[in-house]
Amino acid sequence: MRAVLVEKFGGPEVLTLTDLAAPEPGPGEVSIDVAYAGVNFAELKARSNGYRVASLPFLPGLEVSGRIRAVGDGVQNFQPGQQVAALTTAGGYAEVAVAPARTVFALPESISLRTGATLPTVLPTAHALVHEVGRLRAGDTVLVQGAAGGVGTVVGQLAHLAGAEAVYGVVSSAAKADHALKFGYDEVFIGDDFDEDVYHATGGLGVDLALDSVGGDTFRRSLEALAPFGRLVSFGNASGAAPWQAGQTQLYPGRSVAGFSVLTLAKTEPDVLRDLAARAFALVADGSVELPVTAEFPLAEAAAAHRLLESRGTTGKLLLRIAE
Ligand SMILES: NC(=O)c1ccc[n+]([C@@H]2O[C@H](COP(=O)([O-])OP(=O)(O)OC[C@H]3O[C@@H](n4cnc5c(N)ncnc54)[C@H](OP(=O)(O)O)[C@@H]3O)[C@@H](O)[C@H]2O)c1
Repeated sequence: MRAVLVEKFGGPEVLTLTDLAAPEPGPGEVSIDVAYAGVNFAELKARSNGYRVASLPFLPGLEVSGRIRAVGDGVQNFQPGQQVAALTTAGGYAEVAVAPARTVFALPESISLRTGATLPTVLPTAHALVHEVGRLRAGDTVLVQGAAGGVGTVVGQLAHLAGAEAVYGVVSSAAKADHALKFGYDEVFIGDDFDEDVYHATGGLGVDLALDSVGGDTFRRSLEALAPFGRLVSFGNASGAAPWQAGQTQLYPGRSVAGFSVLTLAKTEPDVLRDLAARAFALVADGSVELPVTAEFPLAEAAAAHRLLESRGTTGKLLLRIAE
């Protein structure tokens, strides 16, 4: 099978198309004939600095859609040929991928394989940020970093649907602001002065919920942009800054800080993730939420997909097309 392999950490050029034997599923696993693979920011970090990579060489790719090829011992809820979307632990950029059956999701009839590949990481993450972890209540105000990206595009819609009084986004360009405004955001701030923008937009009050995927100074300023009793959820560290810290001085005004990682949940509580994914996918199936695919590349051009996502010029979701 054709697969992308990484033999050393580095720029997009280290993504090398290679020929490997197709993997077989072990106990509790399934193999999948992959139709599409989603491209995630976490995969850029895995490629460049080994984020969540056990050892070299490794096969990148954390989410796929396709048809079940074979099931391993003990797997009863999937049959060969069935259309699924899945979180993989690695190896999604390949014609055949293996995934733990507990993080494989049957696709409803109304969801195509192309749409299916956009769902496994972003939809449960966005749902958890707004509901399970962020605990958004009707009338709350929300601030979202990376508002035009994969997660940001869905968070805007979910927060709006949940009755947020105002959903504020932060992006790095005017084109991205235009995108976000079509997906649930009421106002989008461009650039680094978002805390001042929040201050003015909320009459000095701050926001009830801030969702931070950038880390470092952005995390610190998001915390300061909270209203009394506000909540901050950290879900990424795109800046690559040192891990955040918040102590009594920052928290005693009554602020809360929480975190969320879909990859950690997949590893530690896959059944909780299944319930969360079911709730989130249902909103796509019934048309309440959409995640537009804004660029699609053949498997051989995985490096171009990484270059584009790294350029900060993308909106929505990027896919690799695996099956011809
Ligand atoms: N915790 C979880 O479970 C989870 C799950 C999925 C994703 N994530 C995180 O959520 C974020 C979005 O992920 P995604 O896959 O949907 O990607 P994405 O939002 O489509 O792309 C990443 C975005 O991060 C923003 N960004 C801010 N600082 C950046 C920097 N220094 N370098 C590059 N980009 C920067 C960029 O938006 P601007 O140019 O507009 O700033 C860029 O569009 C990432 O940080 C990712 O690690 C977390």
